[in-house]
Amino acid sequence: MPKIVLAYSGGLDTSVAVHWLRKEKGFTVVAFCADLGQAPDLALTKKRAMATGAVEFLAEDLRERFVHEYVFPAIQANAIYENGYPLNTALGRPLIAQELARVAIEKGCEFVAHGCTAKGNDQVRFEAGLAALEPQLKVVAPLREWKFKSREEEVDYALANKIEVPVKRDKPYSIDINLWGASIECGELEDPWQAPPEDTHLMTVPAEKAPDKAVEIEVEFEQGIPVKLNKKALGGVKLIEAMNKLAGEHAIGRVDVIENRVIGIKSREVYEAPAATVLLTAHKALEEMTLSREVLRQKSILSQAYSDIIYSGQWFTDLRDALDAFIRVTQKYVTGTLRMRLYKGQCVVVGRRSPCSLYDKSLATYGSGDAFNHEAAKGFLDIYNLGIKAQGLRRKRSLSSEVGK
Ligand code: ARG
Repeated sequence: MPKIVLAYSGGLDTSVAVHWLRKEKGFTVVAFCADLGQAPDLALTKKRAMATGAVEFLAEDLRERFVHEYVFPAIQANAIYENGYPLNTALGRPLIAQELARVAIEKGCEFVAHGCTAKGNDQVRFEAGLAALEPQLKVVAPLREWKFKSREEEVDYALANKIEVPVKRDKPYSIDINLWGASIECGELEDPWQAPPEDTHLMTVPAEKAPDKAVEIEVEFEQGIPVKLNKKALGGVKLIEAMNKLAGEHAIGRVDVIENRVIGIKSREVYEAPAATVLLTAHKALEEMTLSREVLRQKSILSQAYSDIIYSGQWFTDLRDALDAFIRVTQKYVTGTLRMRLYKGQCVVVGRRSPCSLYDKSLATYGSGDAFNHEAAKGFLDIYNLGIKAQGLRRKRSLSSEVGK
């Protein structure tokens, strides 16, 4: 029997997929569970995979790698897709693809399977990653092939085949969660007029339930990487976990958008990303202080390109390597501390300082201690406006004559 490694989460789709790959396709299934901080119950996930027909269950704690190799570069790039998606799901996929490729080679699998749908972006990310890393592997995507027309039908199949699934018939959300945030789809959310029901939220409280008192926190960055929270040095995973908790308690990080998928359809997406919201806001604010105008302009253009790369599964490409090189250089001076106020869903920068600051109070001040050369402004403007003056003179000439008519 051909051997296949399946990216297994223990959720509805991949649990039904184990069963289907074995029963309908005759595969020997190795289930691989990647821990990106979604706090999987590994004993339960393993039990479920094996009970559903996997021959082997493997799990890998990828949190450190996820943070260092994927989340930190995304922070440095200020990566946000379209109107507020911090790319939490998108960033996890190339890492899982990397691991699937590794396991496939180690376990002698010719095939790889994922539980992505034909309409989504995740199929693109997995398959682009695999194509870049181990192009000879063949991909099977059960959700693109099987006959189920809806998640409800899948739930029914699971119940009929005694596949234990964590989804109830009346609450069929599809949730992908990791350290960088949660993506929630399906169910009532598909109606863009419908407000997200409260039970779709996992990482944040609603603003009404957040404390009535604001809290102020300090975040310190070194070369674009967050290293301290409230003066305490923390490793990346711990820092993000602590930030998720803190910001989530203050209702920060809810995003509700209509997004343009790679394949061309629009979809309504709900995200929760407390830590990402605070850290991306803080990082951008620090860059305002430490990067030159010209670098900021270029970086914001490239930041969009970088976000598109992450979104559309182009992680293992020459373009990302090239953009990474640019971004790495820009982060040299992005060191400093931000004071942030968290209050009922809002996260506001209220203070910033940096040993690499380009902000010079003696130049900016309108108070005493002003070091700016006021007389020099006149000569500057004489020259600065030369071109505009030429246009102004021509406008006047054209009004009083036939020029330009
Ligand atoms: N729209 C998001 C993206 O493409 C989220 C995908 C979420 N996947 C899920 N299984 N809920 O990155």
